[in-house]
Amino acid sequence: MKTLSAALALVAPVQAGLRFPCSTLTVQRLDPVVEPGKIPSAHVHHIVGGNAFNATMEGDVAERATCTTCQMSEDFSNYWTAQLYFKHPNGSYHRVPVVPVQPLLGGSEGARAGLTVYYTQHDLFRDDLGQQKITSFKPGFRMTVGSPTVEGKPQVGLRYQCLQGQFRGPELDDFPSQPCSGGIFTTHHFPACWDGKNLDSPDHQSHMYNTIRSDGFVPAGPCPSSHPVRMPQVTYETVWDTTKFNAMWPAGAPNPFVWSFEGTAGGTHADYMFGWKGDALQRAMDQPECFYDGCGSITKQDMAVANQCTIEETVKEDVEGWLDKLPGR
Ligand SMILES: *[C@@H]1O[C@H](CO)[C@@H](O)[C@H](O)[C@H]1NC(C)=O
Ligand SMILES: *[C@@H]1O[C@H](CO)[C@@H](O)[C@H](O)[C@H]1NC(C)=O
Repeated sequence: MKTLSAALALVAPVQAGLRFPCSTLTVQRLDPVVEPGKIPSAHVHHIVGGNAFNATMEGDVAERATCTTCQMSEDFSNYWTAQLYFKHPNGSYHRVPVVPVQPLLGGSEGARAGLTVYYTQHDLFRDDLGQQKITSFKPGFRMTVGSPTVEGKPQVGLRYQCLQGQFRGPELDDFPSQPCSGGIFTTHHFPACWDGKNLDSPDHQSHMYNTIRSDGFVPAGPCPSSHPVRMPQVTYETVWDTTKFNAMWPAGAPNPFVWSFEGTAGGTHADYMFGWKGDALQRAMDQPECFYDGCGSITKQDMAVANQCTIEETVKEDVEGWLDKLPGR
């Protein structure tokens, strides 16, 4: 599958899985998965989801959260990626703002910045529940995909697209090499096979097995015996509004955007902290013909309500405006 738009043209317009917008909750240096308890963490993240988010997150997140920036009101999970910065030729940095994703099927429904989350059972068009059961994550579960220490090109499933208006263009394994009139679109696909035992692992990845071998929303391959439990396939999509920096990108110069750890394209990564209330996610994943927006059994909230969910800033530092150096660097 080269691009989603190409694929959509070829298949019948049915849709399977959960897909919903989450507004931005906070932009700061916290990372309860990789650096629990550390205030501040090493680099700035763009974070969405429930208001139980803090430097230390143990146990059942859904029991502590009282609101969420996500459209699905029973989802108090947190979802985050590194923050993208523009590096001016004069050496200063500026945070790249985020704008809501306009999905190819449906709108962002009033989200404030944020990212779009998917939980698919099989692919975008079928649930395939007759073939296999999808098991929800458990309270306390967390995982990451990608790594800030990778240089060069990222693994398959972590991609960039150069938006020209609403046209997304091909999936790239590097930052676009030219200015994009509609911003830069990033995708993070997580692995879907669990070892059935561990809610986390020392590298936050080895309790999961990554079956992703090609781009796009492709079905996860069979799970290996070491990681036999088939989980939902989680994906994030984010649109970085690079447009106001395009005029400051000198013609012919290399890509001027960097991740918040001064990282190259290969270092793109994302973190997931499960926080659905009770069996809400399992109910959705058990639903045949579970259409994108709610699967019939999930309670949605208006994004105007979701947008009111906020948290206090724990790390008091400037992450906005023109900065001499990236926070923490
Ligand atoms: C995070 O929240 C939990 C639960 O409210 C609290 O016990 C803990 O002290 C907080 N941790 C930090 C580092 O703020
Ligand atoms: C770099 O350029 C930006 C945009 O014009 C400006 O605001 C910033 O102060 C400059 N930084 C330095 C170190 O000159």
